[in-house]
Amino acid sequence: MHSIFLNLLLFFISFQGANSIMSPLFRFCFNHENYSDSSPYATNLNQLFDLLHTKVPLNGFALDSIGQGMDKVNGLALCRGDVNATNCMSCVNDATKKLQERCPKKKGAIVWYDYCLLKYSNEYFFGESDEKNKFYMVNIYDVDDPATFNAKVNELLSGLSYNASQTPMLYAVGELQLEKAKTLYGLAQCTRDLFGPSCKKCLDDAISELPDCCDGKEGGRVVGGSCYVRYELYPIVEA
Ligand SMILES: *[C@@H]1O[C@H](CO)[C@@H](O)[C@H](O)[C@H]1NC(C)=O
Ligand SMILES: *[C@@H]1O[C@H](CO)[C@@H](O)[C@H](O)[C@H]1NC(C)=O
Ligand SMILES: *[C@@H]1O[C@H](CO)[C@@H](O)[C@H](O)[C@H]1NC(C)=O
Repeated sequence: MHSIFLNLLLFFISFQGANSIMSPLFRFCFNHENYSDSSPYATNLNQLFDLLHTKVPLNGFALDSIGQGMDKVNGLALCRGDVNATNCMSCVNDATKKLQERCPKKKGAIVWYDYCLLKYSNEYFFGESDEKNKFYMVNIYDVDDPATFNAKVNELLSGLSYNASQTPMLYAVGELQLEKAKTLYGLAQCTRDLFGPSCKKCLDDAISELPDCCDGKEGGRVVGGSCYVRYELYPIVEA
């Protein structure tokens, strides 16, 4: 059963250093049903977390389902395409702790960091674009010429959406030279349970929401459970 509510929030961040790379950006406890500590669901979830810890750092993505019927738990974790195994592992470890702390005993939850995301649910969700769990982050500073700037953002991110969908990693970064010696940086990424075309659709949908959050802003992100886009006037990933 799907919730009819879209989990949608908007955050304003004032500058690059506003949030530490190692702290969660946001999380949703999207299934409010509780499991009990002694239930098979609890055991399966712990086993799933262990598996993801082991598997995700190897190539930046893993998914698995543990258990049967009502006790089955499905989960995945993804590290950003440029993040190395060490940082990936520590991000997934932290994400596991944070979800148990912030969404205690909930049957479904998701948490995002700069470096990774982690999601689990009693409902099977692999291969489906998550249109429910989403948030925006936006730089408070305005650009001088919003119309021109927005068009550049769209051009860069649309190119990255295509490029990401063409690679096995479903990840792309790129840049675009602007006037006044400024450079626009962009990033696009999907969870790797999606196929190329659904990745592209997810990213294009996210790009189409930029006017709702980030119109004429120096930086912004549309972050979902299956994909996210981001642009800034500074490099997003280390070269
Ligand atoms: C789950 O447990 C919490 C805390 O005990 C309670 O407030 C909440 O109503 C429970 N949720 C459901 C759906 O039963
Ligand atoms: C991963 O990157 C961090 C810096 O972010 C670095 O300290 C660490 O040595 C790197 N680990 C590997 C295995 O490359
Ligand atoms: C997409 O990939 C092509 C081929 O590698 C590259 O030339 C192009 O600049 C990329 N697009 C963006 C927006 O980075």
